[in-house]
Amino acid sequence: MPAHTETLERLGLRSPIIQAPMAGGGDTAALVAAVNEAGGFGFVGAAYLGPAQIAERARDIRARTALPFGINLFAPLPEPAPSPVTKEALARVAPFFAELGLPAPTAPAYPGDAFAAQMPALLDSGAAAFSVTFGLPPAEAVEAAKARGLRVIGTATTVAEAVALERAGVDAVVAQGSEAGGHRGSFLGDPAENLVGTMALVPQVADAVRVPVIASGGIMDGRGVAAALALGAVAVQFGTVFLTSDEAGAPDAHKQAILDASEDQTRITHAFSGRPARGILNRFMERVEDPDADAAVLPFPLQNALTRPLRTAAAQQGRAEFLSLWSGQGLRMAKRRPAAEIVADLLRDSQAVIRRLSVGAGG
Ligand SMILES: Cc1cc2nc3c(=O)[nH]c(=O)nc-3n(C[C@H](O)[C@H](O)[C@H](O)COP(=O)(O)O)c2cc1C
Repeated sequence: MPAHTETLERLGLRSPIIQAPMAGGGDTAALVAAVNEAGGFGFVGAAYLGPAQIAERARDIRARTALPFGINLFAPLPEPAPSPVTKEALARVAPFFAELGLPAPTAPAYPGDAFAAQMPALLDSGAAAFSVTFGLPPAEAVEAAKARGLRVIGTATTVAEAVALERAGVDAVVAQGSEAGGHRGSFLGDPAENLVGTMALVPQVADAVRVPVIASGGIMDGRGVAAALALGAVAVQFGTVFLTSDEAGAPDAHKQAILDASEDQTRITHAFSGRPARGILNRFMERVEDPDADAAVLPFPLQNALTRPLRTAAAQQGRAEFLSLWSGQGLRMAKRRPAAEIVADLLRDSQAVIRRLSVGAGG
């Protein structure tokens, strides 16, 4: 058996195609099941789900597919210090609340860290993999997951983070390049300085750790898969390409914004959650992080709690200018179609590219 296939099998993967966890509703049970049945591996982003919701989502997936799936959480985060700009943050978003007919925003309370309650539900869910972003998985969680036969995966945006994750005992590292849509997984140093592109990050991480590397960020088609494998990755984790699939739960206004935008229209922003994330530039981002105005963004997860009612109302009203339009930089390659077609194309086209390049190399 080729070494690549053996590594995939050890990770419980049938192919190099992984559908990224997309907390916030993008990764429905229908999407995970469709990806699985087509030959990929689906993830649930459960960071915003409570234990009962995790159990329910897992049941829903198991009713649709017998194939293995993963669950992703945010690593435990310390409570942020009280913000000196709470008044300014409320004032900055208040006009948008009014525009959507919502009551004026109030200072959000710290919701507490969810990880400790989520982890037991994850362990009981029947998931085959546990992945984490924003930090290291706690030692007890790694031990408990492995004892149940789950593969443990961590997210790194630098070599130092990848090495720290390997030391923490993960079975694989997601190397998340700066092209990636959604939140940056950074947890060491200043996230604003951890903006290393996928092309540069993947081989440097592959050189630095012994565990398998999963490339993520800006990869949208078979060419990208072949390139990631050439750089030393064993698999690819895709977000944006699945976000415009029929099964994805993103609001229609979000899907349409991805289909309409071009590669230069995404930015890294703190405006929606207080943590850096890549999304398509819109009016909310421009105003909340106006470079000519004083800082007015609360730390994560307070800003996330502050903007949630606005984002919910904007989704209901189809108002893309107030949505967190998470997207990677490969968005011009996104298409609206069934997830099974996306997986089939990724598998077929990556093989075709690899064959073409091998024939070329052979003369
Ligand atoms: C809408 C959206 C939500 C995301 N949520 C999560 C998440 O909950 N956990 C996580 O580890 N990564 C999350 N990510 C990041 C993905 O795991 C992945 O790194 C990224 O999508 C790869 O870049 P691409 O979008 O260009 O494919 C999210 C990405 C998107 C687009």
